[in-house]
Amino acid sequence: MPTLFDPLAIQGLTLGNRIVVPPMGTQLSTPEGAVTDRQLAHYVALAKGGPGLIIVEHAYVSLPGRYRTKQLGAWQDALLPSLRRLVEGAHAEGVAICLQINHAGSMASPEVTGQQPLGASPVPHPRSGNVPRPASKDDLAEIAQQFADAAGRAQAAGFDAVEVHGCHGYLLSQFSSPLTNRREDEYGGDLAGRFRLPLAVVGAVRAKLGPGYPLFYRLPGDDMLAGGWTLADAVAVAPWLLAAGVNVLDISGGLGGDGRGRLEDRVGWWVEAAHRIKEATGAVVVGVGRITEPGYADRVVREGLVDLVAVGREHLKNPNWAKDARRELGAN
Ligand SMILES: Cc1cc2nc3c(=O)[nH]c(=O)nc-3n(C[C@H](O)[C@H](O)[C@H](O)COP(=O)(O)O)c2cc1C
Repeated sequence: MPTLFDPLAIQGLTLGNRIVVPPMGTQLSTPEGAVTDRQLAHYVALAKGGPGLIIVEHAYVSLPGRYRTKQLGAWQDALLPSLRRLVEGAHAEGVAICLQINHAGSMASPEVTGQQPLGASPVPHPRSGNVPRPASKDDLAEIAQQFADAAGRAQAAGFDAVEVHGCHGYLLSQFSSPLTNRREDEYGGDLAGRFRLPLAVVGAVRAKLGPGYPLFYRLPGDDMLAGGWTLADAVAVAPWLLAAGVNVLDISGGLGGDGRGRLEDRVGWWVEAAHRIKEATGAVVVGVGRITEPGYADRVVREGLVDLVAVGREHLKNPNWAKDARRELGAN
């Protein structure tokens, strides 16, 4: 079995080790969504620390899909030079870099976007409380195209991979979850209906990127709310995502957030879900959740529970986490 410091090849991309910096919003971009010097310095510091992959925080694919005023953007071509700065910063340190792209749906607030948010159904969002306008089929076709265009910008800017954000209560998880999707058309109802939009987005993104370019999907392992999306749902849709062209499943969850408030002390709280999905489908998976100890991270890779280990907040505390882990584990 591989160790934490063994490389991993994904669709023509070779990661130097199995440590991932997961996407973490910094709120350091300009009001247009461009990278600031401070934000670039943050990512360069993370790259110097030597992880195998940095997944850059969620970037909005369109103005109505924007979550925060200082959020990173991938919504227009004018942002290409800005995105390139992040790529150059990581590549100068020999670290692979992926861009997460997102549409906030009813997590987008009218104060930020100037309009009523759009979502699956007119029910209050469990976290934002916003009641969205139900998206029309034309809206959905446009959104799939916007995800594809944003992915194309990431690729053009030189990112090594793209991650579609399907988690944490943003638009794609709003469609996936029975709690926020009460639609009676083909985009609602059973699991296949509720997962139609995510699959359409992945299909459009893959068509834009062409074959042979790594595509990640952040998939909820559970909504963590009664009556919501479950691990069984995740296991069921995982093969659909793989068939649609996804190469790596990055497992997190929580419709009302990423679960930090509730289970934050349980080490590796999404690792078990990621492993179940891996076991059932053979997918390459990322496991995350309060991972701080190199020994734990190494063990879950060695035991084959997950392929990649994401270390989030601990990297914010110590950007050299991977280097220090290498020393602690005596890896060369
Ligand atoms: C400040 C902060 C911002 C985050 N922003 C994002 C984000 O943009 N996209 C995402 O998928 N997850 C986001 N997350 C969740 C992390 O990617 C990760 O799943 C979570 O922090 C759990 O990992 P940890 O316990 O190692 O920190 C964020 C987490 C934090 C702490």
